[in-house]
Amino acid sequence: MTSAFSQTVRGMRDFLPEEARKLRFIEQKARETAGLYGYDEIITPTIEYYELLAAKIGEENKKRMYVFEDLGGRKIALRPEFTASVARLVATKLQSAPKPLRLFSTGSLYRYDEPQFGRYREFWQANFELFGSAMPEADVEIISLTDSFLRRIGLRNYRFKIGHVGVLRGIFNQEGINEERQNTIMQMLDKKEWAEALKMVEKSGASQRCLDSLKNLLTTAGGDLAATAKKIREIVDEYPGAAEAAENLEEIVNLLKAGGLKAEVLLEAGFARGLEYYTGVIFEVYVPEMDIALGGGGRYDRLVEFFGGGKIPAVGVAAGMDRLLIALENQGASEFRWKPERLLIIPVDRSMIGDAFKVASMLRADELCTEIEIMGRSVTRALSDADRRGIAFAVILGPKEMREGKVVLRHMIKRKQRTIDLDDLPEKIKEEM
Ligand code: HAM
Repeated sequence: MTSAFSQTVRGMRDFLPEEARKLRFIEQKARETAGLYGYDEIITPTIEYYELLAAKIGEENKKRMYVFEDLGGRKIALRPEFTASVARLVATKLQSAPKPLRLFSTGSLYRYDEPQFGRYREFWQANFELFGSAMPEADVEIISLTDSFLRRIGLRNYRFKIGHVGVLRGIFNQEGINEERQNTIMQMLDKKEWAEALKMVEKSGASQRCLDSLKNLLTTAGGDLAATAKKIREIVDEYPGAAEAAENLEEIVNLLKAGGLKAEVLLEAGFARGLEYYTGVIFEVYVPEMDIALGGGGRYDRLVEFFGGGKIPAVGVAAGMDRLLIALENQGASEFRWKPERLLIIPVDRSMIGDAFKVASMLRADELCTEIEIMGRSVTRALSDADRRGIAFAVILGPKEMREGKVVLRHMIKRKQRTIDLDDLPEKIKEEM
């Protein structure tokens, strides 16, 4: 029989226990990383005013927002990211909080993207934002933290792609290209539509020198950080704003190396992102097996000010937990598959149910994952059910043994059982785990 309720809404997924456990493993590691780096968790609403969320995320992202009117006639939207909400807090309730201010958030986000591999309409991020410092060490902290988080979840062979919004915008500013036009060009570059982007720059009345520099930048990328950074600086030599950005980028990559970052880093001068609020360094994380970003971030020094909170520079990163789950699965990572061994207490008849609850409490107090047989099954049927569900140990409670302070402990895989003192039960189970 097919149910009329079998479908989830397009782009939405159910996380069955195994998947949910893996997602929560990643989230737990993100929370641990936040703790280690001094990032305090905040929880903001899933729904915000449309104007706030749409403010600086760029035309493409704006079109993909879930927007609706609530019953009170307010124009609201499901959050497509955390950054706007966190910046709103920093512009308002946290405006006078001592700086630096380090904030962590995690939860689900919504974008009306075309569903495909690794792209969902509801997805999950672990988000870290650092407010108050315009120094390159703040950028380096965010990138190092990302590296540390990815290492903790067991991801291998990932690399950072790093660029700087200020290099391209510095050129555009000097060429007199207005901000709106710049944003359109950046969107094109984000989608690697280089020819179209160059055409638009040309149409905007840019000089030949500008076009030559841009063409040069778009092909400048490399893993030799010092050499690539130097080349970028040379290309934009005659554009003071862009040159300053290139110097900042160089300083950041030098600090990353000095700080011992081991992950591979690729500098890409033509790298752009669709989010409009970025003002400085931008980066994404990739693994060789997948061509979609596992995380992304960058510096955004004007968003808090835009929300009325004064000049508070900021840099942050969001890791895409759904994509990390896929990447870890692909790499055969083991720790995130881990699942605690479970025990099942089987009362031989109903007279033992009270004891079953008592013994279960005792085992749980010892941090052992314990279930009680509550289906009224016979011992034989309960054992075969335990087998089917991958239970590691069964504890069988019979009236005669209980009177003597004893229980039967059965190792389900070895199919061996023995009678032991109830008092020794937690210890004996742990020995056999
Ligand atoms: P973003 O690059 O839009 O940045 O998203 C960060 C990550 O979220 C992506 O790299 C990707 O892993 C994941 N992600 C994005 N969209 C989807 C989707 N439709 N399905 C699955 N995963 C997705 C931001 O959101 C910025 N707020 C990051 C940031 C924080 N910048 C500064 N602070």
